[in-house]
Amino acid sequence: MRLPLLIALASSLAGFAGASLAAPAKIIPAPAAETPRDGAFQIHSQTPILYPVGDAEAQASAQRLAELFNRSRGLKLTVRQGAPQAGAIAFQRGAPAGEAYDLDVATDRIVVTSAGGAGLFYGATSVWQLATETAGKGAVEIAGRRIEDAPRFAWRGLMLDSARHFQSVEFVKDFIDRMAMAKLNTLHWHLVDDQGWRLEIKKYPRLTQIGAWRVPAGPAAAADIDPKTGHPHVIGGFYTQDQVREIVAYAAARHVTIVPEIEMPGHAHAPIVAYPELGSAAPPAATSGDWGVFPYLYNVDEKTFAFLDDVLSEVIELFPSRYIHVGGDEAVKEQWKANPAVQARMKVLHIASETALQGWFISRVEQTLNGHGRRLIGWDEILEGGVAQSATVMSWRGIDGAIIAAKLGHDTILSPAPTLYLNHRQTAAPDGLPGRGQVVGLREVYNYEPMPLALNPDERHHVLGVQANLWTEHMRTEDRVALMAFPRAMALAETAWSPAARKDWKDFADRLPVELERSRALGQPVDETALRVRALASPVGPGAMVRLLGAEDIGEIRYTLDGSAPTTGSALYQAPLTAPLGVTIRAQAFRKGQALAPVSDIKIDARSIRTRASQDLKTCREDLVLNIEDDAPVRGARARFLIDIMNPCWVYEDADLSGVSQIEVAVGQLPFNFQIGKDVDKIKFRPPATPDGELEVRQGSCAGTAVATLPLGPAVTSQGVTVLTGQIAGATGVRDLCFTFTQKGVDPMWAVDRVTLIAGDRHGG
Ligand code: ACM
Repeated sequence: MRLPLLIALASSLAGFAGASLAAPAKIIPAPAAETPRDGAFQIHSQTPILYPVGDAEAQASAQRLAELFNRSRGLKLTVRQGAPQAGAIAFQRGAPAGEAYDLDVATDRIVVTSAGGAGLFYGATSVWQLATETAGKGAVEIAGRRIEDAPRFAWRGLMLDSARHFQSVEFVKDFIDRMAMAKLNTLHWHLVDDQGWRLEIKKYPRLTQIGAWRVPAGPAAAADIDPKTGHPHVIGGFYTQDQVREIVAYAAARHVTIVPEIEMPGHAHAPIVAYPELGSAAPPAATSGDWGVFPYLYNVDEKTFAFLDDVLSEVIELFPSRYIHVGGDEAVKEQWKANPAVQARMKVLHIASETALQGWFISRVEQTLNGHGRRLIGWDEILEGGVAQSATVMSWRGIDGAIIAAKLGHDTILSPAPTLYLNHRQTAAPDGLPGRGQVVGLREVYNYEPMPLALNPDERHHVLGVQANLWTEHMRTEDRVALMAFPRAMALAETAWSPAARKDWKDFADRLPVELERSRALGQPVDETALRVRALASPVGPGAMVRLLGAEDIGEIRYTLDGSAPTTGSALYQAPLTAPLGVTIRAQAFRKGQALAPVSDIKIDARSIRTRASQDLKTCREDLVLNIEDDAPVRGARARFLIDIMNPCWVYEDADLSGVSQIEVAVGQLPFNFQIGKDVDKIKFRPPATPDGELEVRQGSCAGTAVATLPLGPAVTSQGVTVLTGQIAGATGVRDLCFTFTQKGVDPMWAVDRVTLIAGDRHGG
């Protein structure tokens, strides 16, 4: 008997009027409507899964359910044809339609009903979720209930950027699987960008022969010679057309539509390197490992449109989706302004501005797509040059694009930065993954409400849905892509699927531990960094004042000081605590009695209380903050630096300098591989006093006189992190310390990795 399923805490019965038997389903995304009923259904090794005779789609959902039971509970259930009957889990056809389904759990049977294959598929997922509310293997009991479920939005998307970093076919399939499990139905596949062209195009082989490979930025990669070629190792890859067909079919079987994106007229460096005649200016000889916005645009010759038509013809053959995404974002117009042929074409066409030329460009491509019976979708910049009402607009620069689009009669999708940009780090913890510096946590993603208030009911019909984007500049490995996506994609899924009125952060947080367990049981990586407890400690008297951080929005922190493992009965962390040096704090976050992540062991000692990682420091400004990975070593673990690349400057707030005589700073150097145009001139440094430059430490403010100066000479020949040590003079009390580098130019860009203040009695000079 599984008591937690039958009688739960009163608080989790909210919404279930009257004395109820079952707690609400611990399902993400939350089902639209749910009613408890008497009794419970037992699932054991003899429970058959039935589907209607000759119904291949229903059979696929039945088999998927069996496979999930096997993978997570080790139950091998028989799948066979048959109508619902006592003792069975059955799929049957009938209202509701499409993606909607009914799920009835009675004492003697479970029945999933939908007229749509997608509905049966989602019903299967929900049955499995109900059966995995408690972890463990073997037989399980599901409390009686009736679920009537249907999606809020038709477009429930994730964008995967396979251009900045390439992912394997296996990874893409796993990603699709996880999307399907979260009832997400649209994979926007970003296959083309400045750094790589990832789709085999038969007519233009150089797109992938040349455009799919690059040497990563920085001297470490440049020195990493491949003995087979005598040149630096390249990274990259592309999807053959056979692989794409395989992935598209795999997605279709999971009711996921793949919308390919072929970027134009900008973000086209890779294809222009492959075929320079397509460009508006002569490109360099090689593909690039830079990030940012490149200046290369396609030109507007007829031959270029013929190329694009050819490419899109092959794309359309491969992808059956109604929509084809053509990008349209961030096309800086300098090359068009400077190119006489482009200017001449504008005159002939009576096009007055380069922005209008982009509108004309996109409209031409739209005609091609419409000619093939497809619809164009683009980033919100496509509105600027004017585009037909039939074009769909993906709003990324906030939500204004969506509002303007809907008011003009375009369909639109909400995908605003930064909230739905999952390339942002999800925690400020020093061991958080690389990404954009501004933290976009799970709760922020969850609380996002996509329907703009500025739209009236008619205009709201143009909002197709919502999407989060995984730009992969800083996701070098597939594991990182998965971790940056999950658990945040679960929050997105609830926004996309569940009725707005069902959304409730606390309720979601209650369901989260179970969902994390499901992922773990299937071996699917989920980022737990934000859920693990970490500490920020400072000296106080002979000991330390310790602030425990982690799972702030989700759980409570319990800790011990005696070496025992924390439990839900351990001391509750409520305010900074004092601890003696030498102690190890063991801490863990819980939600309603369930652990959110493994235990953290936090050692408090003379060093840890005066050490700050760059992520613990404050950047002086927040112009373009990145949590960026070192470019070296080429193989092996690399440091991660939190740095504002427009103003590399850090503050150690409230540093206790009592008795401190030395300072130790670990520094690294980064290649300045950012295409930021003229903005590079805004990055200012103090001039160096020695040829290699210095790290300067100032007390109080960044404008004061230096209390320590650490020459960078010992660090210049190392591509990895170097520890610099120096005297700190005349510093006293509790003050801010400011860290800046003197440099002649931006490349390499020096970064602080970590700072340690050293008290004088042991190391002092
Ligand atoms: C975008 O983030 N440039 C669409």
